[in-house]
Amino acid sequence: MTSTNHIRGVDDLGKDGILEILELSNHFLEVSNRRIPKVPALRGKTVASLFFEDSTRTRLSFEKAAKRLSADVMNFSVSSSSVKKGESLRDTIETISSMGAEAIVVRHKSVGVPWIITEWTDASIVNAGDGAHEHPTQSLADCYTITRQLGSVEGKRIVIVGDIKHSRVARSNVKAFSALGAKVALVAPPTLLPSSIDNWPVDVIEDFDVAIKEADVLYLLRMQLERQEESLVPSLREYTNFYGLTLDRSQKLQKSSVIMHPGPMNRGVEITGDVPDLPNALITNQVGNGVIVRMAILYHLLGSGVALSGLHSEGEEDG
Ligand code: ASP
Ligand code: CP
Repeated sequence: MTSTNHIRGVDDLGKDGILEILELSNHFLEVSNRRIPKVPALRGKTVASLFFEDSTRTRLSFEKAAKRLSADVMNFSVSSSSVKKGESLRDTIETISSMGAEAIVVRHKSVGVPWIITEWTDASIVNAGDGAHEHPTQSLADCYTITRQLGSVEGKRIVIVGDIKHSRVARSNVKAFSALGAKVALVAPPTLLPSSIDNWPVDVIEDFDVAIKEADVLYLLRMQLERQEESLVPSLREYTNFYGLTLDRSQKLQKSSVIMHPGPMNRGVEITGDVPDLPNALITNQVGNGVIVRMAILYHLLGSGVALSGLHSEGEEDG
């Protein structure tokens, strides 16, 4: 299934691997709905979290996922670590590895870090975001959310709107959605499209108001100002006029269509404040599913030999 014991990018999984994680997620959904949502699947294993960039949901959901599987968790915060004293990435990884970590979840501003560090540790590496490159576990959570809501990803028209150029979520999602047979379209001002998308399996639609009508899934992206070196839109107000999802514009969606956003949202820029409260907005579902899918990811990487059947919650005779 996987070519490696890492999830650094969507290609480490491929279609079969993605489907396997989605299938496993169904099992962990059942675990998560139990009175005591905790199983001993990864007892004795350690998951280390290394976030060199800020995060709320990815970091916390990995921590929660690992704890629900009874793994030990080591959280590393750059701001209070010896990185501040000049310790290198390699020395940091080797230090954490020496303490015994079977999996390292890493987020870093530089593209390729999850691949580089596999040279310095035997731990399984999970990419929690490398620069504007990939964010595969977000994609798995998104594929699972779409599958739960719409039955499958296959055949769906998924319209991704916004700052695609700086989005690792867009890059991973284009790969994952199209691997599962979705028809992906991108909508963005030309300055926020990557310079080379010729090989991407996508359509580009210029007019948001045209694209929105055909979307089964409307996937909004944050304007990632922290990665922009110059101003790429005339003004945020103009951006919102053309590419923001307002309540008015959301009326153009088909009744069965859903709205997604990886978070964090910039309310008032790519999405107005009232839209996330719509019943077809799945933004909080994406976060909840993120915990479940990350349980599946950690089990997939570290749980070999532990049978899923018969994994009872602590203190419960029968799951
Ligand atoms: N949280 C996502 C990421 O880290 C999306 C975003 O920040 O806009 O890539
Ligand atoms: N979606 C996402 O990765 O959120 P965080 O940046 O808060 O982890």
